[in-house]
Amino acid sequence: MNNNYLKTGALAALLCLPIASQAQEKATITLHPDEGKNIISRHIYGQFAEHLGTCIYGGLWVGEDSPIPNTQGYRNDVLGALKELSIPNLRWPGGCFADEYHWMDGIGPRGQRPRMVNNNWGGTVEDNSFGTHEFLNLCELLGCEPYVSGNVGSGSVEEMAKWVEYMTAEDGPMAKLRKQNGREKPWKVHFFGVGNESWGCGGSMRPEYYSDLYRRYSTYCRNYNGNELFKIASGASDYDYNWTEVLMQNVGTRMNGLSLHYYTVMDWNKKGSATQFTDEDYYWTLGKCLEIEDVIRRHIGIMDRYDPGKNVGLMVDEWGTWWDQEPGTIPGHLFQQNTLRDAFVAALTLNVFHKYTDRVRMANIAQIANVLQSMILTKEDKMVLTPTYHVFHMYKVHQDATFIPLDIQCTRRIVRDDRIIPTLSATASRDQQGTVHLSLANIDLTQPCEVEIALEDLKAKKVTGEILTSDKMGDHNTFEAPDKVKPQAFGKAKISKGVLRVTLPAKSIVTLALE
Ligand code: AHR
Repeated sequence: MNNNYLKTGALAALLCLPIASQAQEKATITLHPDEGKNIISRHIYGQFAEHLGTCIYGGLWVGEDSPIPNTQGYRNDVLGALKELSIPNLRWPGGCFADEYHWMDGIGPRGQRPRMVNNNWGGTVEDNSFGTHEFLNLCELLGCEPYVSGNVGSGSVEEMAKWVEYMTAEDGPMAKLRKQNGREKPWKVHFFGVGNESWGCGGSMRPEYYSDLYRRYSTYCRNYNGNELFKIASGASDYDYNWTEVLMQNVGTRMNGLSLHYYTVMDWNKKGSATQFTDEDYYWTLGKCLEIEDVIRRHIGIMDRYDPGKNVGLMVDEWGTWWDQEPGTIPGHLFQQNTLRDAFVAALTLNVFHKYTDRVRMANIAQIANVLQSMILTKEDKMVLTPTYHVFHMYKVHQDATFIPLDIQCTRRIVRDDRIIPTLSATASRDQQGTVHLSLANIDLTQPCEVEIALEDLKAKKVTGEILTSDKMGDHNTFEAPDKVKPQAFGKAKISKGVLRVTLPAKSIVTLALE
């Protein structure tokens, strides 16, 4: 691990900014609308659904015979909430599960599908009732693109090739089988992952060996009848820059995307509670979350050397917080609560992705329901939306909008392990109708922050907004109190003489629309 970039001296020297703390925070933002040329890919707002705990079974899928109201087996409450998020893509079936998944076990009459042990996630017996048809039909219902992860670790080249044919070919033996199983027309599948975490649960490989396997497996993933695959290679974990170097050298533009996984985790052996944490833990968490910028920058630096034209996308297809699972839940199912702290991790991470959108073409938060940093938690027939869900909802205005570069002048705080975090984090974009959206996060736990933004060439006259905050950073939504943390209308932003002035309450996340 090398996180020197975030050490006190290095960052202060680099930015020549004061490191201080004062009673009343003040900050200024300079927008550079003329320099905005990159589109923030909506795929940065991608989601991830793995066969893990109750993400699929219970979270998304209850089956047609369930007393829980459903549409063709998918929970109505969850479907409705997810439609509101305008999800661009959904990654499935893993994660680690993908490299033990044999897709033929998940087709045909549900009652006749073979069972398997989910070795990665608690040894739960998987009945394969949610398979290819159930997943791709769900994507159609949600209006999102599927991102299918293929099995390199324990599957054959033939198995992967036939899966692509089954899903996307109009004619031929696999298309015939699909039609027998009730689906006449092929689906459109663009994003296809060739393995997952091939350095670990996906086969414990060295990058040289995986590069060759990628070349071999991907050769047989064909484009049928106008369906064009976007092939994504299994990429590095966090600081493993050598993996990226070797893949770029040996695979290069044979891949369309190279993945990266980065979790905001305190310590893999002692992750800490999702809801019980100190102020110090909170600030440290944001420092760890913000370190993703340095990690991304370094991976991009390597990619730029081999691919200056930026043909290969960096796909952060797993990210988010990873805490101890909630006491009393099934070991290995990774069910965790989600507080305002998680909302900050979401907002700050999305702000970073926006900055590198010319290379970061996709990201998938882990995961969509009941696992890690979820959008949604379910318990039998109850559902709650998490603070992270609310951030994704407030930020959806940035999907496919033009990124507006900005500079922030604000105070910085030194936290545990000499990490440095700013008081204010922000991002801005202009949508296709010309509306500028500005998202601001006041990280400080106790002080409001007065922000001044010179609008310059932006002729905005009207500002409206939404705010997400709560009394305590550990506040979260429960099945008993589902609306403890939820967005409210925000009125503390005013435009006068070409200057936007905003007073952000302590620990708040705000999105403004400027028209
Ligand atoms: O998201 C949970 C797990 O984290 C995924 O299965 C795996 O890819 C990663 O290690």
